[in-house]
This record gives sequence, structure tokens and C-alpha cells, in this order.
Amino acid sequence: MPAPLTIAFLSSNLDFSYLLPAFQTQFPQARLRLGTELGPLEDIDAAVCWYPPEGLLARLPRLRLIQSVGAGIDHITADPALPEVPACRIIDPDMGQGMTAYVTWAVIQHQRHMGAYLRSAAARRWEEQPVQPPRQHRVGIAGLGTLGLACAEALLNIGYSVRGWSRTPKRNTQSELPAGLQAFHGEAGQAEFLAGCDTLVCLLPLTEDTRGILGQPLFNQLPRGAHLINVGRGAHLVEADLLAALASGQLAAATLDALTQEPLPPEHPFWADPRILITPHIATRTDPAVIARQTADNLALVDAGRAAEVAVDLQRGY
Ligand code: NAP
Ligand code: GLV
Repeated sequence: MPAPLTIAFLSSNLDFSYLLPAFQTQFPQARLRLGTELGPLEDIDAAVCWYPPEGLLARLPRLRLIQSVGAGIDHITADPALPEVPACRIIDPDMGQGMTAYVTWAVIQHQRHMGAYLRSAAARRWEEQPVQPPRQHRVGIAGLGTLGLACAEALLNIGYSVRGWSRTPKRNTQSELPAGLQAFHGEAGQAEFLAGCDTLVCLLPLTEDTRGILGQPLFNQLPRGAHLINVGRGAHLVEADLLAALASGQLAAATLDALTQEPLPPEHPFWADPRILITPHIATRTDPAVIARQTADNLALVDAGRAAEVAVDLQRGY
């Protein structure tokens, strides 16, 4: 009789017990192994991960699937001993909707001066702020993937002028890009893209090419007084350069959902700066049932020799 499927949940900073009911439903016959009680490592067929302990994946001889619980895969590629096993990420329309809601809120929150209205309301003052039509405000989305495209479409529907930047060229057709989206790509298209971003949204994956991209050279190419929204990863941002750009007025505000240190410690200078709005990496989440179902689908494709259809390109890094 073949050994039962064994799935391990590996994270150095998350308690994965919340995933167990969904995986029990999806894999009723499987052995599910959590964190400290992994059992024999040679039993493990699939690893469900968020920052897996460094080197651990390389010690699983039977491993045939590495499944990220998120859209990003950087927390897995960060492992210098990553074995050559298909690694998959979550691609989930609901996650796109969650991100769309967050990014739309963040754009409007700043562009329509909602912070000032909260202060006025607290002081019982009827005070108007300038009202600018959405089409006069240019939102640039760095990263036109699953999440970036969903946000672009929603912002276009509201009436914002939206542009996007990707690594490779996109055709401006209905099937690939929402109508009205101005598309730029690669290093050659970056300066023109940035010059038209009153708000810049970072929805890039964290790779060797994008680490530290949100720093002074990029900020200097934005229109003066731009708003930065980082929903990518903390390591996209050079923190000292953000503080300097805010101090000089080159940037007016920043909304940050992803930080290098999570949780951000209370003594971090970002908390004290009224121009920086921090949220605790909540822009969007994936339903555990979706993670369980995509793990099952990916495992079936790997077992059918079709891993290339779903595995992330580890050379490219996303
Ligand atoms: P995706 O589908 O892989 O899309 C990535 C996009 O970035 C693609 O358009 C890609 O260009 C572009 N890109 C990659 N490297 C680039 C470079 N060097 N220069 C220019 N463009 C580049 O990713 P996704 O599912 O949309 O997710 C994006 C990221 O969002 C994730 O990696 C994760 O870091 C972050 N995220 C955050 C949260 C949160 O709650 N804050 C939640 C989910 C995800 P091509 O189209 O040419 O390939
Ligand atoms: C969250 O940050 C994700 O990558 O899904």
C-alpha cells in the first residue's frame, strides 16, 4: 500500500494552525504536519510555506511541491539552499478584489484629503478641501500582473488616469490590458512612466532587480509632491530615502502595507511621521480553502508531469 500523502506547514514567523480545517477537508486521507511536530522528514511530499526555516526544504528528500500561501514567492526564494522542486504561488481573483479595494482606498484617501476631513470632523469644523476630478490625477502602477491589472481596471472605472509599468511589453488589447491604460515597460520605459505618476503604487514582486527600487533615484523622477503606495514588499523601499524625500517635499505622503520589519517596532520613525500611513500587511488575504484547493490542483499537475504550467520561474524570481 502506498504511504499516505504528507503535507508539512513550514513558517518561521506564522502559526499555520488556521489552515488545518481547510486542508483536512481538501485532503481527508493526508497526514498534516505542523511546525514543531513534523515527524520523519523523509515522509513529506508537499510543503506549504511562508518564510520556511532556512535550509529545511533541502532536507526533505521526498518533496515534490513547494506551495506559497501568498501571491509572492520571495519568502521562499530567499532560502539559499532552495532545492530544485516545483514552487507555486497563489493566483486568486478574490485576492485581486481585496487588493483592489485597498489600493483604491489608499489612492482616494490621499487624493481626496480624507486625513484632513477626519481632523476637521474631530474638531467639529465644516471645512472644504480642494476637489480635483479623478481624471486629472495620474496613478501609476508598477507591476502589471494579476494584482496590478485588477487595480488598474478598478481605478480606470472610477475615472483616474492610469498608467502601468511591467518588465515585458504588453499589447494594448482588451484581452491583455484594460482599455485606457497607458502601458510602459522595462528600463527604457521607466522614466516616462514615473514622470506621470501623481500616485505611484508598487505591486512588483521582490526580485534581485526590484530590491530597493523605491529609493532616491526613482523618487526624483516622480512629479514633486507625489504619493507612494507600497503594497509590494518592505525590501522594495529604501527607508532612509523615503524619510529624506518626505522631508524635502519631493514626496508628499506614503501609504505602506509591507515593511522590512514586520511587525514594525513601536520605536520605528515611520510611526511618528504624520505623512506616513502604515497598515499591518493586510492589503489582501487568501481564503484557506483556496490555498488548500490550489495545493491539490498543483500537486495533481506536478504528478502528471505538468509542473511547468504552474511553477514559478525561479531564475526570474517571480
Ligand atoms: P505577478 O502576477 O507575478 O506580476 C508581477 C508584475 O511585476 C508583472 O507585470 C511583471 O512584469 C512585473 N515585474 C516583475 N519584475 C519587474 C521589473 N524588474 N521591472 C518591471 N516590472 C516587473 O504578481 P502579482 O500576483 O500581481 O503580485 C505582485 C506582488 O504583490 C507579489 O509578488 C507580492 O510581493 C505583493 N503582494 C502583496 C500583498 C499584500 O497584502 N500587501 C498581497 C499579495 C501580493 P511582466 O508582466 O513583464 O512579467
Ligand atoms: C502577501 O503578501 C502575498 O504575497 O500574498
